Amino acid sequence: MTAAAIDVAGLEKSFGDVKVLRGIDVAVARGTVFALLGANGAGKTTLVRILSTLLAPDAGTASIHGFDVVREAGDVRESISLTGQFAAVDDVLTGRENLVLVARLRHLKNPGAIAAELLARFALTEAADRKAATYSGGMRRRLDIAMSLIGDPPIIFLDEPTTGLDPQARLDVWQTVKDLAGAGTTVLLTTQYLDEAEHLADRIAILHDGRIIQDGTLEELRRLLPPAEVEYVQKQPSLEDVFLALTGKADR
Ligand SMILES: Nc1ncnc2c1ncn2[C@@H]1O[C@H](COP(=O)(O)OP(=O)(O)OP(=O)(O)O)[C@@H](O)[C@H]1O
Ligand SMILES: [Mg+2]
Repeated sequence: MTAAAIDVAGLEKSFGDVKVLRGIDVAVARGTVFALLGANGAGKTTLVRILSTLLAPDAGTASIHGFDVVREAGDVRESISLTGQFAAVDDVLTGRENLVLVARLRHLKNPGAIAAELLARFALTEAADRKAATYSGGMRRRLDIAMSLIGDPPIIFLDEPTTGLDPQARLDVWQTVKDLAGAGTTVLLTTQYLDEAEHLADRIAILHDGRIIQDGTLEELRRLLPPAEVEYVQKQPSLEDVFLALTGKADR
Protein backbone atom coordinates (compact mmCIF):
# COMPACT_ATOMS: atom_id res chain seq x y z
CA MET A 1 0.00 0.00 0.00
CA THR A 2 2.90 2.39 -0.63
CA ALA A 3 2.23 3.16 -4.30
CA ALA A 4 1.02 6.66 -5.14
CA ALA A 5 -2.71 6.99 -5.65
CA ILE A 6 -2.12 8.01 -9.25
CA ASP A 7 1.15 7.66 -11.14
CA VAL A 8 1.46 8.71 -14.77
CA ALA A 9 4.63 8.63 -16.88
CA GLY A 10 5.15 9.62 -20.49
CA LEU A 11 1.48 9.27 -21.36
CA GLU A 12 0.58 10.03 -24.98
CA LYS A 13 -2.69 10.02 -26.87
CA SER A 14 -3.63 11.14 -30.36
CA PHE A 15 -6.94 11.25 -32.17
CA GLY A 16 -6.08 10.90 -35.86
CA ASP A 17 -3.43 13.52 -36.58
CA VAL A 18 -4.19 15.50 -33.44
CA LYS A 19 -1.70 14.86 -30.65
CA VAL A 20 -3.77 15.63 -27.56
CA LEU A 21 -1.41 14.31 -24.87
CA ARG A 22 2.30 14.55 -25.72
CA GLY A 23 3.98 12.99 -22.71
CA ILE A 24 2.21 13.53 -19.41
CA ASP A 25 3.97 12.92 -16.09
CA VAL A 26 1.90 13.24 -12.92
CA ALA A 27 2.04 11.77 -9.43
CA VAL A 28 -0.81 12.23 -6.96
CA ALA A 29 -0.25 11.30 -3.31
CA ARG A 30 -2.95 9.37 -1.45
CA GLY A 31 -5.53 11.40 0.38
CA THR A 32 -4.79 14.63 -1.49
CA VAL A 33 -6.81 16.83 -3.82
CA PHE A 34 -5.17 17.35 -7.20
CA ALA A 35 -6.52 19.89 -9.68
CA LEU A 36 -5.87 19.65 -13.39
CA LEU A 37 -6.29 23.03 -15.07
CA GLY A 38 -6.52 23.57 -18.79
CA ALA A 39 -8.42 25.44 -21.48
CA ASN A 40 -11.21 23.88 -23.55
CA GLY A 41 -9.75 21.07 -25.60
CA ALA A 42 -6.52 20.87 -23.57
CA GLY A 43 -7.04 17.15 -22.99
CA LYS A 44 -8.35 17.04 -19.41
CA THR A 45 -11.23 14.69 -20.15
CA THR A 46 -8.96 12.55 -22.34
CA LEU A 47 -6.53 12.10 -19.42
CA VAL A 48 -9.37 11.31 -16.99
CA ARG A 49 -10.81 8.75 -19.43
CA ILE A 50 -7.42 7.02 -19.71
CA LEU A 51 -7.00 6.96 -15.91
CA SER A 52 -10.49 5.50 -15.49
CA THR A 53 -9.79 2.76 -18.09
CA LEU A 54 -12.33 4.06 -20.61
CA LEU A 55 -9.68 4.88 -23.21
CA ALA A 56 -6.36 3.23 -24.02
CA PRO A 57 -3.20 5.39 -24.20
CA ASP A 58 -0.93 5.25 -27.26
CA ALA A 59 2.28 5.31 -25.20
CA GLY A 60 3.47 5.70 -21.61
CA THR A 61 2.07 4.21 -18.43
CA ALA A 62 -0.53 5.08 -15.83
CA SER A 63 -1.26 3.29 -12.60
CA ILE A 64 -3.81 3.63 -9.84
CA HIS A 65 -2.74 2.31 -6.42
CA GLY A 66 -0.01 0.48 -8.33
CA PHE A 67 -2.44 -1.19 -10.76
CA ASP A 68 -1.77 -0.57 -14.45
CA VAL A 69 -4.76 1.03 -16.19
CA VAL A 70 -4.31 -1.15 -19.27
CA ARG A 71 -3.16 -4.53 -17.93
CA GLU A 72 -5.04 -4.43 -14.61
CA ALA A 73 -8.11 -2.45 -15.61
CA GLY A 74 -10.43 -4.51 -13.38
CA ASP A 75 -8.40 -3.74 -10.24
CA VAL A 76 -8.27 -0.09 -11.25
CA ARG A 77 -12.05 0.08 -11.64
CA GLU A 78 -12.51 -1.29 -8.13
CA SER A 79 -10.42 1.56 -6.71
CA ILE A 80 -12.03 4.47 -8.51
CA SER A 81 -15.19 6.25 -9.29
CA LEU A 82 -15.77 8.74 -12.06
CA THR A 83 -18.16 11.65 -12.15
CA GLY A 84 -17.98 12.55 -15.81
CA GLN A 85 -18.28 15.97 -17.35
CA PHE A 86 -21.85 15.23 -18.40
CA ALA A 87 -24.20 13.91 -15.71
CA ALA A 88 -24.80 10.17 -15.61
CA VAL A 89 -28.16 10.58 -13.87
CA ASP A 90 -31.14 8.67 -15.33
CA ASP A 91 -33.92 11.21 -15.83
CA VAL A 92 -36.88 8.83 -15.74
CA LEU A 93 -35.88 7.55 -12.28
CA THR A 94 -36.23 9.46 -9.03
CA GLY A 95 -33.16 10.54 -7.10
CA ARG A 96 -33.67 7.67 -4.68
CA GLU A 97 -34.11 5.13 -7.49
CA ASN A 98 -30.90 6.30 -9.19
CA LEU A 99 -28.95 5.69 -5.96
CA VAL A 100 -30.58 2.34 -5.25
CA LEU A 101 -29.81 1.23 -8.80
CA VAL A 102 -26.10 1.98 -8.42
CA ALA A 103 -25.96 0.28 -4.99
CA ARG A 104 -27.56 -2.83 -6.54
CA LEU A 105 -25.15 -2.77 -9.48
CA ARG A 106 -22.30 -2.69 -6.95
CA HIS A 107 -23.86 -5.70 -5.13
CA LEU A 108 -24.08 -3.84 -1.82
CA LYS A 109 -26.31 -4.90 1.04
CA ASN A 110 -29.09 -2.52 2.07
CA PRO A 111 -29.34 -0.36 -1.07
CA GLY A 112 -32.29 1.51 0.46
CA ALA A 113 -30.34 2.54 3.55
CA ILE A 114 -27.33 3.59 1.47
CA ALA A 115 -29.60 5.72 -0.74
CA ALA A 116 -31.27 7.34 2.28
CA GLU A 117 -27.93 8.22 3.87
CA LEU A 118 -26.60 9.83 0.67
CA LEU A 119 -29.85 11.71 0.03
CA ALA A 120 -29.56 13.23 3.49
CA ARG A 121 -25.87 14.01 3.09
CA PHE A 122 -26.45 15.81 -0.21
CA ALA A 123 -29.57 17.68 0.94
CA LEU A 124 -31.77 15.79 -1.50
CA THR A 125 -34.15 14.10 0.92
CA GLU A 126 -37.08 16.39 0.10
CA ALA A 127 -36.65 15.82 -3.64
CA ALA A 128 -35.80 12.13 -3.24
CA ASP A 129 -39.01 10.79 -4.76
CA ARG A 130 -39.25 13.19 -7.67
CA LYS A 131 -38.01 12.23 -11.11
CA ALA A 132 -34.45 13.47 -11.70
CA ALA A 133 -35.74 15.20 -14.85
CA THR A 134 -37.28 17.82 -12.54
CA TYR A 135 -34.01 18.57 -10.70
CA SER A 136 -32.04 21.79 -11.12
CA GLY A 137 -28.49 21.65 -12.49
CA GLY A 138 -27.02 21.81 -8.99
CA MET A 139 -29.28 19.05 -7.68
CA ARG A 140 -28.34 16.82 -10.62
CA ARG A 141 -24.65 17.44 -9.96
CA ARG A 142 -25.08 16.58 -6.28
CA LEU A 143 -26.99 13.42 -7.16
CA ASP A 144 -24.33 12.51 -9.71
CA ILE A 145 -21.55 12.91 -7.15
CA ALA A 146 -23.61 10.98 -4.57
CA MET A 147 -23.99 8.12 -7.06
CA SER A 148 -20.24 8.02 -7.62
CA LEU A 149 -19.55 7.73 -3.88
CA ILE A 150 -21.50 4.49 -3.49
CA GLY A 151 -19.15 1.74 -2.40
CA ASP A 152 -16.67 4.25 -0.88
CA PRO A 153 -14.08 4.26 -3.66
CA PRO A 154 -10.66 5.45 -2.39
CA ILE A 155 -10.04 7.55 -5.51
CA ILE A 156 -12.58 9.79 -7.18
CA PHE A 157 -12.30 11.62 -10.49
CA LEU A 158 -14.47 14.70 -10.89
CA ASP A 159 -14.43 16.09 -14.42
CA GLU A 160 -15.48 19.75 -14.20
CA PRO A 161 -17.73 19.15 -11.19
CA THR A 162 -19.01 22.72 -10.96
CA THR A 163 -19.31 23.85 -14.57
CA GLY A 164 -22.69 25.49 -15.06
CA LEU A 165 -23.56 25.62 -11.36
CA ASP A 166 -24.72 28.74 -9.54
CA PRO A 167 -22.42 30.10 -6.80
CA GLN A 168 -24.27 28.39 -3.94
CA ALA A 169 -24.34 25.02 -5.72
CA ARG A 170 -20.62 25.44 -6.45
CA LEU A 171 -19.94 26.06 -2.76
CA ASP A 172 -21.95 22.93 -1.93
CA VAL A 173 -19.83 20.84 -4.30
CA TRP A 174 -16.65 22.42 -2.89
CA GLN A 175 -17.74 21.44 0.61
CA THR A 176 -18.38 17.89 -0.63
CA VAL A 177 -14.87 17.71 -2.06
CA LYS A 178 -13.38 19.03 1.19
CA ASP A 179 -15.35 16.46 3.18
CA LEU A 180 -14.14 13.66 0.91
CA ALA A 181 -10.53 14.78 1.25
CA GLY A 182 -10.96 15.09 5.01
CA ALA A 183 -12.12 11.48 5.10
CA GLY A 184 -8.98 10.35 3.23
CA THR A 185 -10.32 10.03 -0.31
CA THR A 186 -7.93 10.98 -3.11
CA VAL A 187 -9.60 13.45 -5.46
CA LEU A 188 -8.49 14.36 -8.96
CA LEU A 189 -10.62 17.14 -10.35
CA THR A 190 -10.47 19.03 -13.59
CA THR A 191 -11.61 22.59 -13.76
CA GLN A 192 -11.47 25.76 -15.79
CA TYR A 193 -12.20 27.81 -12.68
CA LEU A 194 -8.91 28.94 -11.25
CA ASP A 195 -10.43 29.94 -7.92
CA GLU A 196 -11.78 26.42 -7.59
CA ALA A 197 -8.25 25.03 -7.80
CA GLU A 198 -7.01 27.73 -5.39
CA HIS A 199 -9.63 26.79 -2.81
CA LEU A 200 -9.60 23.03 -3.04
CA ALA A 201 -6.35 21.64 -4.31
CA ASP A 202 -3.25 20.51 -2.45
CA ARG A 203 -1.45 20.46 -5.79
CA ILE A 204 -2.29 22.03 -9.12
CA ALA A 205 -1.12 21.02 -12.59
CA ILE A 206 -1.52 23.11 -15.73
CA LEU A 207 -2.14 21.14 -18.92
CA HIS A 208 -1.20 23.07 -22.06
CA ASP A 209 -0.20 21.98 -25.57
CA GLY A 210 -0.37 18.34 -24.55
CA ARG A 211 2.01 18.65 -21.61
CA ILE A 212 1.90 19.47 -17.91
CA ILE A 213 3.76 22.76 -18.10
CA GLN A 214 3.74 23.37 -14.33
CA ASP A 215 2.82 21.33 -11.30
CA GLY A 216 3.03 22.40 -7.71
CA THR A 217 1.31 23.77 -4.64
CA LEU A 218 -0.44 27.12 -4.93
CA GLU A 219 2.52 28.71 -3.11
CA GLU A 220 5.00 27.15 -5.52
CA LEU A 221 3.02 28.36 -8.53
CA ARG A 222 2.73 31.85 -7.08
CA ARG A 223 6.48 32.04 -6.63
CA LEU A 224 6.87 31.70 -10.41
CA LEU A 225 5.86 35.33 -10.80
CA PRO A 226 7.27 38.30 -8.88
CA PRO A 227 4.80 39.97 -6.51
CA ALA A 228 3.26 43.08 -8.06
CA GLU A 229 3.92 46.37 -6.28
CA VAL A 230 0.67 48.18 -5.53
CA GLU A 231 0.98 51.38 -3.49
CA TYR A 232 3.86 50.04 -1.42
CA VAL A 233 1.89 46.90 -0.55
CA GLN A 234 3.17 43.58 -1.88
CA LYS A 235 0.43 41.74 -3.73
CA GLN A 236 0.86 38.04 -4.44
CA PRO A 237 0.11 37.06 -8.04
CA SER A 238 -3.17 35.21 -8.22
CA LEU A 239 -3.27 31.73 -9.66
CA GLU A 240 -5.03 33.32 -12.63
CA ASP A 241 -1.99 35.57 -13.27
CA VAL A 242 0.28 32.51 -13.14
CA PHE A 243 -1.98 30.50 -15.44
CA LEU A 244 -2.29 33.24 -18.04
CA ALA A 245 1.45 33.97 -18.01
CA LEU A 246 2.32 30.29 -18.41
CA THR A 247 -0.20 29.57 -21.15
CA GLY A 248 0.79 32.73 -23.04
CA LYS A 249 -2.64 34.31 -22.97
CA ALA A 250 -1.72 37.28 -20.75
CA ASP A 251 -1.18 39.66 -23.66
CA ARG A 252 -4.46 38.97 -25.47
N1 LIG B 1 -12.99 10.50 -29.33
C1 LIG B 1 -12.39 11.55 -29.89
N2 LIG B 1 -12.16 11.58 -31.23
C2 LIG B 1 -11.52 12.64 -31.80
N3 LIG B 1 -11.06 13.70 -31.13
C3 LIG B 1 -11.25 13.71 -29.80
C4 LIG B 1 -11.91 12.65 -29.11
N4 LIG B 1 -11.96 12.95 -27.79
C5 LIG B 1 -11.34 14.14 -27.67
N5 LIG B 1 -10.91 14.60 -28.86
C6 LIG B 1 -10.17 15.86 -29.10
O1 LIG B 1 -9.11 15.90 -28.17
C7 LIG B 1 -8.92 17.24 -27.69
C8 LIG B 1 -9.00 17.22 -26.17
O2 LIG B 1 -10.34 16.94 -25.77
P1 LIG B 1 -10.76 16.82 -24.25
O3 LIG B 1 -12.19 16.48 -24.22
O4 LIG B 1 -9.82 15.89 -23.56
O5 LIG B 1 -10.50 18.30 -23.74
P2 LIG B 1 -10.89 18.97 -22.35
O6 LIG B 1 -9.62 19.56 -21.81
O7 LIG B 1 -11.63 18.02 -21.49
O8 LIG B 1 -11.84 20.16 -22.83
P3 LIG B 1 -13.15 20.80 -22.12
O9 LIG B 1 -12.61 21.81 -21.15
O10 LIG B 1 -13.84 21.49 -23.26
O11 LIG B 1 -13.94 19.71 -21.50
C9 LIG B 1 -9.97 18.08 -28.39
O12 LIG B 1 -9.37 18.70 -29.50
C10 LIG B 1 -11.01 17.08 -28.82
O13 LIG B 1 -11.68 17.52 -29.99
MG1 LIG C 1 -13.51 17.95 -20.70
